[in-house]
Amino acid sequence: MSSGPLSIHLAGVPLTNPIVLAAGTCGYVDEIADALPLSRIGAVTSKSITLEPREGNAPWRIVDSPQGMLNAIGLANVGLNEFMQKRLPAARALPCSFFGSVAGHSVEEYLTVAERFDAAPEIAIVELNVSCPNTSDGLQFGEHPDALRTLLRAVKQVVKSKPLSVKLSPNVGDIVAMARAAVDGGAQALVVSNTFSAMAIDVESRAFRLSRGRGGLSGPGIHPIVVRMVHDVYLGVAREAGVPIIGLGGVCNWRDAAEFILAGASAVGMGTALFIDPRAPLRVVDGLDAWVRRQGCHSIAELVGRAGS
Ligand SMILES: Cc1cc2nc3c(=O)[nH]c(=O)nc-3n(C[C@H](O)[C@H](O)[C@H](O)COP(=O)(O)O)c2cc1C
Repeated sequence: MSSGPLSIHLAGVPLTNPIVLAAGTCGYVDEIADALPLSRIGAVTSKSITLEPREGNAPWRIVDSPQGMLNAIGLANVGLNEFMQKRLPAARALPCSFFGSVAGHSVEEYLTVAERFDAAPEIAIVELNVSCPNTSDGLQFGEHPDALRTLLRAVKQVVKSKPLSVKLSPNVGDIVAMARAAVDGGAQALVVSNTFSAMAIDVESRAFRLSRGRGGLSGPGIHPIVVRMVHDVYLGVAREAGVPIIGLGGVCNWRDAAEFILAGASAVGMGTALFIDPRAPLRVVDGLDAWVRRQGCHSIAELVGRAGS
């Protein structure tokens, strides 16, 4: 691993640089490698994997918007067994780290997937996507602190050999309370955040543009809101707990990424930008490298949380 100014340790996992490709935006493992040399980024995150295969929602499940895009993919994926047998082996040859994203509709489903991910040497960090409704009460794990804490305490029993990260939902009144519940439950890293609940309507046909009516907004329009959330979570919970944040939302260029670092993120995710230009992370890495040097720092870690100072 390079030891340049961008190299970091995220919850103890060494990364060449802080750029992480976001869950669901770059396939299962290495599909984006034809367009983006993965040796130049820190980590790839798998799309969220559920116990059983899922076809996801009917089309349309992605639509554009002036601020980014709306999606309602519905966790389409091949399911745990096929992922482990046919997709995950490609991660052995990756020149960067690999994070496994877990989704589920019950505590038991999360446990089964997380336990297999814990045993897989290809996976450096297990990331929980908690923006999923629990089939037993219909409430999203990521929108209720008690449900989140209970889920995490259970998952911590099976994720023993590597860090457990939690991807917070922004669709809550108090994201700091959710971050606190996650850290109480044993989260060793926090991803801030998932997509924002949103809707788009075709005014001529009067039809919802997404088949499911609603979906999640991602892209540049959410970036300033997520910068504020990262800062709130950093000051409210993460700094004192020593838990790193991955800032994720609308990063298109190095300035957006640098903002996340100054707000309190130790690493930076990119998702929607990959749909516009899969090579965008390369420019972000180069821009961050020059910025860290201009700031007179030896390591980007020195700039984490330094907004306002
Ligand atoms: C098409 C699409 C699919 C996504 N699938 C997942 C997923 O499987 N699991 C997950 O945790 N987040 C998923 N996300 C959310 C992204 O990982 C990310 O949190 C969000 O898009 C905000 O970052 P961005 O503005 O850089 O895209 C998806 C986003 C998009 C646009």
